Amino acid sequence: MAEADRSTPGFISEFFTPEFINDPYPSYRWLHENAPWFKVPDAPLHVAVRYADCQELLRDRRLGHGFRERMVTQFGEEVFERHPAYKGLGNSILLMDPPDHRRIRTLVAKAFDARRTEAMRPRVREIAHRLIDRFEAEGSGDLVALFNHPLPVLVICEMLGVPEADHGRFIGGSKVAGRIIDPTPMSADELSDADERVRENHAYFSGLLDERRRQPQDDLLTALVHAETEDGKLSYDELIANVSLLFAAGHETTVNLIGNGLLALWRHPDELAKLRADLDLAPSAVEEFLRFDSSVQLSGRTALEAFEFKGQPIAKGDQVLTLLAAANRDPAVFTDPDRFDISRDEAKPLSFGGGIHFCLGAQLARIEADEALRVLFERLPGLELDGVDAPSRKPTITLRGLERLPARW
Ligand code: HEM
Repeated sequence: MAEADRSTPGFISEFFTPEFINDPYPSYRWLHENAPWFKVPDAPLHVAVRYADCQELLRDRRLGHGFRERMVTQFGEEVFERHPAYKGLGNSILLMDPPDHRRIRTLVAKAFDARRTEAMRPRVREIAHRLIDRFEAEGSGDLVALFNHPLPVLVICEMLGVPEADHGRFIGGSKVAGRIIDPTPMSADELSDADERVRENHAYFSGLLDERRRQPQDDLLTALVHAETEDGKLSYDELIANVSLLFAAGHETTVNLIGNGLLALWRHPDELAKLRADLDLAPSAVEEFLRFDSSVQLSGRTALEAFEFKGQPIAKGDQVLTLLAAANRDPAVFTDPDRFDISRDEAKPLSFGGGIHFCLGAQLARIEADEALRVLFERLPGLELDGVDAPSRKPTITLRGLERLPARW
């Protein structure tokens, strides 16, 4: 398809409105029916909506990030170098291209492996119980603050080896978390907040990494310090940037997965009853949470060379957005895609991305959400959510989640 006409529920200006953030799914349905692969008028931006197209584009090596080059072209070398938020992101595997991406991802994956992740399952359960012990007697409160947020933060702190005395500093979160990976630029205030956060985290983790070098422990930080392949070890900047990435990616996304999932359950009482009656449905409920209302809505790439995709020319440097959450509602892949069904057994959702950047934490996220659900329903059988018709949402676009989730138990 060529350029979408002006009636496309226009991207950037018309698309990312508060109404869209509140409920993007009618727009995604419209796109499936009218503009499943289109170029945004007057902008070097292409948008993929279908499951198969998103999957193919994510695996296409002609697309990558070219992050440093893009930022320097957009803002100038001096600005890029001056902002730790940009520089840090540029050193993380999330925005790297091969061959550096392969070298560093292999090292990180060696430390953050399936064995270490699966070994966390009992600890995830214990942490969930400990959190509920703290707030059970209160009878009501905000589940995001009391449970959904601290759970994955404490899990990733513990995996990395952040001492318990320091956990508190990470519980608060940041008011601009996630904004840096949105398709719309950050304001000066947001950027300065993000810089400050990155500076604090870098200072903190560099201290811990030095300690681990001197005194190894059985934790992920030590494993990262010592990870080595025939291509060598992680440099200091790479270590810090990727520890920060694991930390950031390791909480915001999972917090939102649990919140979006609980909201969907309460909006579909039959499915809620089904899960309450059989908690062994939790893993398949989590898959449906991921599909139905993904905490990562989209993923962006830059064309590293000019090429054509489905008849549409893409110029070098153009941006391509894969709308993962729209792909998860593709009627060609999912039966009755707008129906929430916790026992659905169809294709895997695209929520964890695809290709060389496929989420490293997918297994951890699934374990966390599975255990969170089981413990929550076991411990709080009378749990009820309030205000599910008008929940308060975070203003971010790429990461979709709830600001608060008022509940009684
Ligand atoms: C619901 C939870 C999560 C979702 C939906 C999610 C989603 C994603 C997606 C879509 C990507 C690819 C981004 C892209 O291609 O542009 C990604 C990458 C990544 N995720 Fe996750 N994630 C989740 C949880 C986690 C957790 C718990 C961790 C680690 C503790 C993690 C670590 C990473 C890392 C390190 C990458 C970068 C991989 C690379 O670029 O090679 N994620 N995630």
